Amino acid sequence: MTFTFVTLFPNLMQGYFQDSILKRALDAERFHIAFVDPRDFSRCKHKKVDDTAFSGGAGMVMSPQPMYDALEHLHQQYDNLHVIFPTPVGKPFTQNDAKRLAQKEHVVFISGRYEGIDERVIEQYGDELFSIGDYILTGGELPSLVMCDAIARNIDGVLGNSDSLDVESFENHLLEAPSFTKPQHFRGLSAPSEYLKGNHSKIAALKIGLSECKTKFFRPKRLITEQKRKLYEK
Ligand code: ADE
Repeated sequence: MTFTFVTLFPNLMQGYFQDSILKRALDAERFHIAFVDPRDFSRCKHKKVDDTAFSGGAGMVMSPQPMYDALEHLHQQYDNLHVIFPTPVGKPFTQNDAKRLAQKEHVVFISGRYEGIDERVIEQYGDELFSIGDYILTGGELPSLVMCDAIARNIDGVLGNSDSLDVESFENHLLEAPSFTKPQHFRGLSAPSEYLKGNHSKIAALKIGLSECKTKFFRPKRLITEQKRKLYEK
């Protein structure tokens, strides 16, 4: 699988792949990355990529031409592109999206800056628009990296231990149970003794109870949604 990032700031993004799990997976060619700078496609003398908004107001909008040409270039080079625009007005990105998109051949993330990208480019080329949360960032680079990370760890062979995909938060309707490691006692706080006794069915039952507590406290709506889903199933 390949991820291509269309961004004015490739250096900002490259660093994320230079360490840890994603670096190891890249080195092992579990996936590939590429960067395209829309400035390289600007036909304007000063390589300008933005302009004032027609509707007025503060802030600049990314001009359609450089983005349009960058995307045309990619479509000419590759088949089966899946083009994603990160934007605060997109649909919320979820774990299900991460798993689904891990099956694609080539995902392209388009990072906007300033007040965003001319809507005509998004309409012409966007396969999906995603938001990573209800807050505004200075550009699409971080959301692109967030989504890429979430997708990449679902690609075969990216995580060392594939078991770790099964029991995580969002794999069912519950948040993942807390984890502990040695020492058992630390600054007056103890890890649950049940975790240490090695009775797997008891540990599993305890983890479900702790997951339910966490979910009730931090994300109660997930429990209500699951209860409704079960009711509809009946
Ligand atoms: N660009 C700026 N803020 C964003 C957000 N919250 N999600 C996706 N893209 C964005």
